Amino acid sequence: MARTLDGKALAKEIRQEVATEVTRLRERNGVEPTLAVLLIGEHHASQIYVRNKARACEEAGIKSEVIRRDSGISSTDLHSLIDDLNRNPEVDGILVQLPLPEGLSAEQVTSWVDPAKDVDGLHPTNIGRLVRNEPGLVPCTPAAILRLLKRNDIPLLGRRAVVIGRSYLVGKPTAMLLLREHATVTLCHSRTRDLPRVAAEADILVVAIGRPAMVTEDFVRPGATVVDVGIHRLVTEEEVRNIFGSDPERLESFRNKGQILIGDVHPTRVPPVAGALSPVPGGVGPLTVAMLLSNTVTAMKRRRIADPA
Ligand code: GUN
Repeated sequence: MARTLDGKALAKEIRQEVATEVTRLRERNGVEPTLAVLLIGEHHASQIYVRNKARACEEAGIKSEVIRRDSGISSTDLHSLIDDLNRNPEVDGILVQLPLPEGLSAEQVTSWVDPAKDVDGLHPTNIGRLVRNEPGLVPCTPAAILRLLKRNDIPLLGRRAVVIGRSYLVGKPTAMLLLREHATVTLCHSRTRDLPRVAAEADILVVAIGRPAMVTEDFVRPGATVVDVGIHRLVTEEEVRNIFGSDPERLESFRNKGQILIGDVHPTRVPPVAGALSPVPGGVGPLTVAMLLSNTVTAMKRRRIADPA
């Protein structure tokens, strides 16, 4: 069975490190980091994510402010709201929770955020810095994936890495970070021919396609490291049975909780083949929030402290 890459434990460690750093900065430099999170509309999962982010900030000593607007907000009003935050010297980090309601373009909106406060690393300037190997703010999920691989001593140099999914939030920046570590990177997507065969060449397979349990054992070379970035809720017993068969433990868990979380990687068919696996839940998800905290402190130090040690 695959070794588990435990994102939850690593996230706890990173959050603790960030909290220590925040205390040190307050005592030595008299500064306190502040994160502004913009939540536009009523997207169900986003409400939960934003609540988790705010709670994690609080635990690390980072001030956070959640700014809610309804889905009808005009592009102009949103732009001026972001501009106000850009100009506010107290605000160190700005995150626009995605997805945005229809009619607002994520690419456009994220380009309004001051690159120095862009803790999501999605501004064209930060994407450019990533591609050019210059210091900048790196998107949280890709940063989390790399932290998890490195922490678990997964060799990257010269290895074959395959990323499935080409979003600018995950797939593309992850490919760039793997390249920076000298992996040989293949970026696949929905149009890739013979996807299982290409995926099965990977020493490291990162899956961010947004399709529940799509990656099965035929995508995975025996012994490969698999990182699952998807997150999906199974909410009917039929869905649970489709994935887990009649496994009594899973059915019991489903009946107790009313849902089961799974990723893009098949949760029973891949673990016997993979060498290491970042699971869902408990893998990349919790680490993403930890990287957001870390980015907020980094942004603050660069903006507000002349000589950040
Ligand atoms: N929605 C899902 N993941 C993310 C993320 O990393 N950043 C933002 N802003 N929204 C998200």
